Amino acid sequence: MYNNIAKSYNELHGEEQIKKLDIIKKNIKIISPLLDVGCGTGISTNYFNVESVGVDNSKEMLKYGSGNLIYGNAEKLPFEDKTFNTVISVTSFHNFKNMEKALLEIKRVSKNNSIAITFLKKSRKLNYFRKLLKKHFNFKEIDCYNDILFLIL
Ligand SMILES: C[S@@+](CC[C@H](N)C(=O)[O-])C[C@H]1O[C@@H](n2cnc3c(N)ncnc32)[C@H](O)[C@@H]1O
Repeated sequence: MYNNIAKSYNELHGEEQIKKLDIIKKNIKIISPLLDVGCGTGISTNYFNVESVGVDNSKEMLKYGSGNLIYGNAEKLPFEDKTFNTVISVTSFHNFKNMEKALLEIKRVSKNNSIAITFLKKSRKLNYFRKLLKKHFNFKEIDCYNDILFLIL
């Protein structure tokens, strides 16, 4: 799906994503190295001034992106256990086929559970996502423009 809109993604959604990233920045201490799951063109990966890597499974989004972005799947992250001090995922989770697997992968590669996930408010999967989070983490919710920001600390 994202392959088709990759070329115009930044123009269509860049401004909106930056507003969400501003909110994340205000609410969590970002510590290097950072992982961005479902990084798209890297807007969210490159926003914070830290060593970061983004993972996405759309080759087209990566092609139109910049920065340290690699091809990979959220449900099977290509990293060792406890690699990252901060993990973010911005407006991507509703796309993941197996959201629980992706959450457990994020937990696995995170060093100390400093995780910020924004989830599209209008998605039908929002309540199910909340249920999954409750099963695996303690978290708080913050309004984040078109998304809800879930902070796992
Ligand atoms: C709305 S975009 C968000 C991109 C970026 N986080 C941002 O804020 O601009 C959602 C991204 O999730 C990616 N995605 C969807 N399913 C994925 C999966 N299973 N593994 C990795 N990335 C995935 C899509 O390719 C797309 O680039």
